[in-house]
Amino acid sequence: MAASLSPPRVLLLAVHFAAKSDIQSLIALVAHHPNVLRPELILRVLLTCLPETLPSSEYLDLTRLLSRTSPMPRPPKRPGASIFCLLHGTIAPREALQDPVSLFLIRRAHRVDQEAGLLAQLPNLIVPFLQHAPCIRTWMISAMLPLLRRNYEYYPHDPITQTLESFERLDSRTAVALLLSQTGVREEDLPHVGRDLRGLIGPWLYNNARWSSSIEKPGAAESSSAGPVSCPAWEHVLEWLTTQAAVSWKVAVKAFDQWDGPNDVDLGDYGSEWLGDEEQGFLERRFARAALASAYLIPEASIEALSGVNSIVTKIMSLLDQDPCPTLQVASSLLPPFTELENENLISARSASLMRNDLLEESNYLTTPNRTATHLLHVLTLSAFILTKAGAPCSVRRAGELAFLQDEREQKAEAIRLIHSLGTNGPKNDDKYWIRARNEILWLRDWGAEEAFGSSDIRVHGIFGRLKRDFLEVECLKAFLANTRYSLARSIYEDSPEKPLTEGVLQDTVVGAAMEAYDNASNPHRGRGGLLKCDDIIHAFPEALAETHPESKRIEALLRATHALSEYRLVLKKGEPFTPVVLRVHTDPISIIGKVLEQNPKSYTNIQDLLDIGSNLVDAGLLAGDKPSQSKLKLRTTSDHHIATQRRITAMCVDAALTEDDFETAYSYVVNRVASDADPQITDEYSWKAALQAGKYRRTARTVKPTHIGTASGNLDIRHLEQRIECLSAAVRIAPPATLQEILNVFRKCEEELNAAVKTEEAQELAWDDRGDVQAMPGAFNSTVPAGVSKNVTRSSRHVEEAPMSLFDLSRASMARAQHNFSALSSLQRSGQSRASDADGGLDELSGQPRVRKRDQLREAAVGTLASGVGWLIGAQPVDRGQERE
Ligand SMILES: *[C@@H]1O[C@H](CO)[C@@H](O)[C@H](O)[C@H]1NC(C)=O
Ligand SMILES: *[C@@H]1O[C@H](CO)[C@@H](O)[C@H](O)[C@H]1NC(C)=O
Ligand SMILES: *[C@@H]1O[C@H](CO)[C@@H](O)[C@H](O)[C@H]1NC(C)=O
Ligand SMILES: *[C@@H]1O[C@H](CO)[C@@H](O)[C@H](O)[C@H]1NC(C)=O
Ligand SMILES: *[C@@H]1O[C@H](CO)[C@@H](O)[C@H](O)[C@H]1NC(C)=O
Repeated sequence: MAASLSPPRVLLLAVHFAAKSDIQSLIALVAHHPNVLRPELILRVLLTCLPETLPSSEYLDLTRLLSRTSPMPRPPKRPGASIFCLLHGTIAPREALQDPVSLFLIRRAHRVDQEAGLLAQLPNLIVPFLQHAPCIRTWMISAMLPLLRRNYEYYPHDPITQTLESFERLDSRTAVALLLSQTGVREEDLPHVGRDLRGLIGPWLYNNARWSSSIEKPGAAESSSAGPVSCPAWEHVLEWLTTQAAVSWKVAVKAFDQWDGPNDVDLGDYGSEWLGDEEQGFLERRFARAALASAYLIPEASIEALSGVNSIVTKIMSLLDQDPCPTLQVASSLLPPFTELENENLISARSASLMRNDLLEESNYLTTPNRTATHLLHVLTLSAFILTKAGAPCSVRRAGELAFLQDEREQKAEAIRLIHSLGTNGPKNDDKYWIRARNEILWLRDWGAEEAFGSSDIRVHGIFGRLKRDFLEVECLKAFLANTRYSLARSIYEDSPEKPLTEGVLQDTVVGAAMEAYDNASNPHRGRGGLLKCDDIIHAFPEALAETHPESKRIEALLRATHALSEYRLVLKKGEPFTPVVLRVHTDPISIIGKVLEQNPKSYTNIQDLLDIGSNLVDAGLLAGDKPSQSKLKLRTTSDHHIATQRRITAMCVDAALTEDDFETAYSYVVNRVASDADPQITDEYSWKAALQAGKYRRTARTVKPTHIGTASGNLDIRHLEQRIECLSAAVRIAPPATLQEILNVFRKCEEELNAAVKTEEAQELAWDDRGDVQAMPGAFNSTVPAGVSKNVTRSSRHVEEAPMSLFDLSRASMARAQHNFSALSSLQRSGQSRASDADGGLDELSGQPRVRKRDQLREAAVGTLASGVGWLIGAQPVDRGQERE
């Protein structure tokens, strides 16, 4: 029967068996009609009719059979000859075209994938034929394996949607992008970045086609070609890596960490090394360049990112067989020196530009994989690390800009930012931390060149290369002081033999730091916070700033003044408590004492304390500016300042006392301080006004009663008027001429009141005395007189214990003493006969007339002062008064 079948019927039967997946019958048919069903024909039937879902094991034997009978293809002559091309809508290696079995396998694979979606089963179809022809193995490894791993093994939940065939058609840029589209996307995928590159990219590159530009766009191949060899596909892998560095640096770091580059390929069990030395070396050099480029592209300024950069550097060093660089932690304690070779010009604006552009170009010396580039990168990374570690984040590129452009302003800003954050973020009470920080800062200036090679004629590089060493030392010293590292500061800047700073600079810096601490203080108490700091700083350098140093003295005075103010309630603006810095910035610091007086009842009684504050403010140099508004007079010397301040504060106290109705204290200040201190050479606008204010004061019910005189004083009205006159007379003596008329008006009025009061009193005293004599007589020798009488009688007769010492007071005091003596006498004598017999004028006062003369004497004293002083100005001639009296 079999022999009777015509060839067309044999073919039809074969088609029928194939469509029914009846492989056994098909094998039998082939065996009977080998001349009709030649291998090529059968393969074509299988390809078109065999259901794609049929497991390949079912037709493995048949395919094997066919492969034995079909001619073997010739091996490719050279890599370039193995080119994929399009054939009947199928993409296949050129060699496969000459081999029906190879062509069948590939086309069958495409169909099974496309029609049945059974990509995962294709290894069963292909693996038995890996040895059949090299093109099958190449195709399996470079096309099917990457896609299979990508979609079924590595990222089954996010597969590439391309069919196997369309994947093969992709240009290599897209293919790389799709293969790696899930790589490192999620945090948990980061450990697999190396696996992906090894397992997807490695095999995918295992194809001569990647080395040719025939499927690539011509331009793409040329742009990155270098020398005789080029691999556009590899360039796309490198582009992917550098892009990751810029947008997703962790992926790049993992890539270089986990993957050793073109040599590090996982072909499964399907193949082995095939690249020639030239190709291999080329890919590795490009890989190293891409690694260096990636390091510059990592934008993040964090310890982790910088450590990542350094691990990339280390990787490249090991690929280049250089001695490995240490970790950043170790390097930052070693602070290795870095110098460029003589013919190199790394520190240049060109370098700054090369950090940004053409990183992968062969001409870019920053990414040329040799010792210069790796060491420069390491030292930049270390610089950025030192800043970042201290809390002043800096990326590699930023460090590069600082070093390459050598812009002084930028460097200064960065140095200050660094030093500031050292205090904010570090264990600032640890001396070791600060010693290390200083070493690092100085290293950042010259990258260790000075220490390693001596200071002479070394070109200073480093990210602070433009800054003077002094500047950095001063900033370090400031930081030490701001962070209370006093003994450390002293040991480095005062005690050490090197003495990094000159004494003048040291003094200025220390004083500046002390003032900064002062200005930053919130509490005026000397034993707390900023003031304590200021105090400590100024005493921390016993040689540079001895206690006798003018600046030490000045600051000491400032601290005293401020501390003294801490004893008082003091609010300057609404709700804002006083802070020390106010004293320094205030245009009129003395006026703050006025606030103290306002806000602290009775504080005017602490006049000495307040005067001391004023004196210390002068010593602190706060009045040295002598603002024009403060005084019309030019105060030339400190002692002038002292006198002026003293007077002003006294005047303030007088005003405060009057405001609080304490006339007695005001009066006492006027006569004891204002009047006695008067010096016609130095006049001021405060004293006379205070004296005048006191002179204008009228007693009221609120007026504080005199305490030191007690209840047994003289007539309070008279006493008060006398005191007022005294104040006015003091005012007359120290006031500017233009104001005299006003004062004299008050004076005259006061005098009239006094006269009237005296007359009234004398009349009363006469009456009382008469009654007192009569009353006292029966109780002879009894010194205790009835209370009411006693008061009124003795009031004007009691001895004033604390006699004021002014001219005016002296006459009054002597009068009082005379009266006292007379009282005692009169009590003893009782008879009253001897009233006029005593030689002392005062003894006559009980007669009435002598008492009037006494008042005249008082008036004389006051006006006499006026007359002998400035009285002539208003025509108050002594002669006139003489006539008036007559
Ligand atoms: C590294 O390569 C650059 C650029 O080609 C070159 O200028 C430099 O001298 C090289 N350095 C070393 C150590 O060979
Ligand atoms: C200023 O004061 C603040 C808070 O009182 C403190 O944290 C800071 O360290 C001080 N700065 C200096 C320079 O003393
Ligand atoms: C003085 O007189 C008072 C009463 O007026 C009397 O209490 C007192 O004892 C007398 N003193 C003497 C020392 O006689
Ligand atoms: C003193 O005398 C006055 C009258 O001159 C009288 O009003 C007053 O009450 C007397 N004082 C005493 C304590 O007796
Ligand atoms: C008043 O008497 C005392 C002694 O009691 C005497 O020392 C003094 O000189 C006398 N004063 C006058 C002004 O006489």
